[in-house]
Amino acid sequence: MKAWLASAAAVGLAGVALAQGSTTDEIERYRQMIADGNPAELYEMRGEELWRTKAGPKNASLEKCDLGLGPGVTKGAYAQLPKYFADTDKVQDAESRLLTCMEQLQGIDPKEVINGRWGQGKRADVVAIVTWLSGESKGVKVSVQPKHPKEKEAYALGRKAFYFQGGPHDFSCASCHGEEGKRIRLQDLPNITKPEGAHKGWTSWPAYRVSSGQMWSMQHRLEDCYRQQRFPEPVYTSELTIALSYFMAANSNGYPMATPGIKR
Ligand code: HEC
Repeated sequence: MKAWLASAAAVGLAGVALAQGSTTDEIERYRQMIADGNPAELYEMRGEELWRTKAGPKNASLEKCDLGLGPGVTKGAYAQLPKYFADTDKVQDAESRLLTCMEQLQGIDPKEVINGRWGQGKRADVVAIVTWLSGESKGVKVSVQPKHPKEKEAYALGRKAFYFQGGPHDFSCASCHGEEGKRIRLQDLPNITKPEGAHKGWTSWPAYRVSSGQMWSMQHRLEDCYRQQRFPEPVYTSELTIALSYFMAANSNGYPMATPGIKR
């Protein structure tokens, strides 16, 4: 049995129990999913095509983009992100690095994506490309270890953000993801502070969300968790979101990527 089918069956049970008003819709969605494979494959195909297609004012493709392993190297690149890049003097995750490449190579203003909306325009393109890139690292071990001072800073900031409590419920990420065996609405919440839990959270995103029928990147995952925390929406690819990703990735060091994932 294909891996996605096993996980589809596993989440399927939870999904059926979860869906109250829309049980039939939900079952129908699982049925389609099982018939067609992980719908993430469609995003991967689109992402690869976008990578190779000339676009923007400079009419160039992204094929010379340096994701940290040299210009144009995509195999294994996602597994070593986020990392420090000398040209921008920043720690960047896959999504922010793509914005840099789109700006440098294609002349596309990053604001178009940063101020954009999920599932639309250039933001949707970026999500498709990172989905493909994540697939290019499937099975590759996460290699994120803070060495550069800015990477150490990112880890420390991510850790601080993870434990930062606030909002109407005085929640931090750790309130929901800092202990073993927590569950919300039948979902197991990984303990992200430990490698066993961190890698479950980190190595399975981007993921196709069956419940919403959308492909979600890690930036989208984080935005939604901030919403669950009743915090203001973080800015897309902000330093804070990258630091949180850095913290989770470094805690997952050595675990193989299982991307793109499929989730409830
Ligand atoms: C109020 C509880 C709550 C808080 C606070 C919260 N999350 Fe979550 N988180 C969830 C739930 C629920 C899910 C599963 C959501 C789903 O699949 O619908 C989840 C999923 C995740 C996942 C994916 C896990 C997996 O196995 O796929 C990651 C990573 C994550 N959260 C990170 C964070 C970070 C980082 C923060 C702090 C910024 C945070 N969360 C704050 C409830 C929370």
